[in-house]
Amino acid sequence: MGMLILLNDTWIYFNTLNLHIQPFNVPKVKRFFTLLDHNSSLLYILNHISNPKMLIIFFSSFLNTAVRLDGVVWYTIAIGNFMKTAMLIFMKVNMFYNKYFTNDKDGNEYMINTTGVTLRYGKRALFEDVNIKFTPGNCYGLIGANGAGKSTFLKILSGEIEPNQGEIHITPGERLAILKQNQSEYDEFPVLETVMMGHKRLYDIMKEKDALYAKADFTDEDGMRAGELEAEFAEMNGWEAESEAAEMLNGLDINTEMQSKLMKELGGNEKVRVLLAQALFGHPNILLLDEPTNHLDIESIHWLENFLADYDGTVIVVSHDRHFLNTVCTHIADIDFGKIQMYVGNYDFWYESSQLALQLGREQNKKKEDKVKELQAFILRFSANKSKSKQATSRKKMLDKITLDDIRPSNRKYPFINFKGEREAGKQLLLVDGLTKSIDGEKIIDNLTFTVNKGDKIALVGPNGLPKTTLFQLLMGEIEPDAGTFQWGITTSQAYFPNDNSSYFDGVEDSLVDWLRQYSKDPDESFLRGFLGRMLFSGDEALKKANVLSGGEKVRCMLSRMMLMGGNVLLLDEPTNHLDLESITALNNGLTDFDGTIMLTSHDHQFIQTIANRIIEITPTGLIDRMMSYDEYLENKEVKEMRERMYPVQV
Ligand SMILES: Nc1ncnc2c1ncn2[C@@H]1O[C@H](COP(=O)(O)OP(=O)(O)O)[C@@H](O)[C@H]1O
Ligand SMILES: [Mg+2]
Repeated sequence: MGMLILLNDTWIYFNTLNLHIQPFNVPKVKRFFTLLDHNSSLLYILNHISNPKMLIIFFSSFLNTAVRLDGVVWYTIAIGNFMKTAMLIFMKVNMFYNKYFTNDKDGNEYMINTTGVTLRYGKRALFEDVNIKFTPGNCYGLIGANGAGKSTFLKILSGEIEPNQGEIHITPGERLAILKQNQSEYDEFPVLETVMMGHKRLYDIMKEKDALYAKADFTDEDGMRAGELEAEFAEMNGWEAESEAAEMLNGLDINTEMQSKLMKELGGNEKVRVLLAQALFGHPNILLLDEPTNHLDIESIHWLENFLADYDGTVIVVSHDRHFLNTVCTHIADIDFGKIQMYVGNYDFWYESSQLALQLGREQNKKKEDKVKELQAFILRFSANKSKSKQATSRKKMLDKITLDDIRPSNRKYPFINFKGEREAGKQLLLVDGLTKSIDGEKIIDNLTFTVNKGDKIALVGPNGLPKTTLFQLLMGEIEPDAGTFQWGITTSQAYFPNDNSSYFDGVEDSLVDWLRQYSKDPDESFLRGFLGRMLFSGDEALKKANVLSGGEKVRCMLSRMMLMGGNVLLLDEPTNHLDLESITALNNGLTDFDGTIMLTSHDHQFIQTIANRIIEITPTGLIDRMMSYDEYLENKEVKEMRERMYPVQV
């Protein structure tokens, strides 16, 4: 049997793309094809599928010819090793097609909006008269303090929670998907199937088809039904469903072997990635994501950023990850005091412009003109920067159109974070020689040797936290090395932010003022209250007991302590973990301005990118140590090769 691939205009795009064809191994090829054996079937398909993107049809003849059907020229190609090659073409063309031509084909303006939405829990109004509209092609970053109602708002949009007043309107026919938070809901299902469940209708058809074909007594009626199902299946692009699901999972680093496992066999962070794929699967028109990057590693986040940057539906996402928000968002929706304010632009644009607008509001008339000019220059600068990046052009267009009226001050409060070394460090900062440490019989740090120089801002990176935390603990004398030495320069003084701060707070009955006084050279109450005020513990807040603080509040206290210590070397082990966006931004600014030496770890991409000038990765077989920015490090070919060599192959 030979094969014929029929394409309409898609073929032309394929030709101009000049795609590179190489052998490609695709499991279970059969699924993607509709098997037919004569011409009438072709007509059947053409009659039943509107707007086909591509058909792959098996024939016993007609090789290497062009046929004309219904006024459309259908090209035919036949290639040796046809299964593999054809599959590749098929997938490439479809990827290309999906990227540029799906959704808006019927020209509908899909959207979701709310009118007068109000939600109260007891006396507290979480939302009051919220009127807001979300449109396709845009990605909305939903931000707000802890407990502001971000998750609740997504649930209102998805219909899971009914507001007390007001309505949600969704253009009929739209598919809405939400990233589920319940990780065990699909435990009994195989991974690949779980992903395909994201498109309910398609999944139901597949199940019904499978049941029909499995029947021993396949009747004529069954044949008719199968035909109907096949047609609907084809219309939904069912052929590529499995390959698309698999491709998505591969992008999220769920390999072929894991794809055939049951969900319950996966670890927590793998499950999140599968559920993410489920939400994305089948290109919903409206996609709601609640903190999707939380349990993802940097590669998966990268994948998601690229995916969403090209997404043509409406995306509404809650996140504390500024790099992510900056890469994907066209708008920022800020929840504050029961209202949602919409701003054009990504997170950085929102932050910078609303800060400038805030200053503008404070200025007297004469200075105002200067500020207006500054703002205009800022808008220009920001648009120009964006045009250089490879980001979606729609965002660039949007920023071009921004006027001063679009820019409003926000009410957000930022802590004031500023580090100053009490004296300048000499040249020699830190020598580490052959440092080795085992924990519970396992070698965590093996023969580490490196030198830290003045002005180094080192980010320690790598998938495991333990070696990094262990190194910090060794350098701060919290634990003893098994072998090797380290030596701090005599002019250095260290301020340390430990990964685990519980020993500083557990069972401590002191008020925050008293807690902080232990670390301050100036014991004066008003000095300490002022200091805490700038860290957003104002008035009575400063009298709270240290042991009742939330995770984020403890971190703000630990940062206050560090500021008071005046070290010229800062060591920070995951300082961004419990912080909200405002505090991360303030800490980021404080560290960017610091002129001493820094060693840090963080899961926050933008944090590392804007602070570090040197990246050190502790791998199981040694160090990778580069003087470069994080983005350069992630892109660097040589580093990539080293990483591949230095990590043991995962089984
Ligand atoms: N069923 C409920 N009854 C009362 N209060 C609730 C309920 N669900 C959530 N809340 C409260 O509503 C607020 C918003 O919660 P949430 O939407 O999860 O915040 P966010 O996602 O912004 O951190 C929180 O203060 C939470 O305690
Ligand atoms: Mg939430």
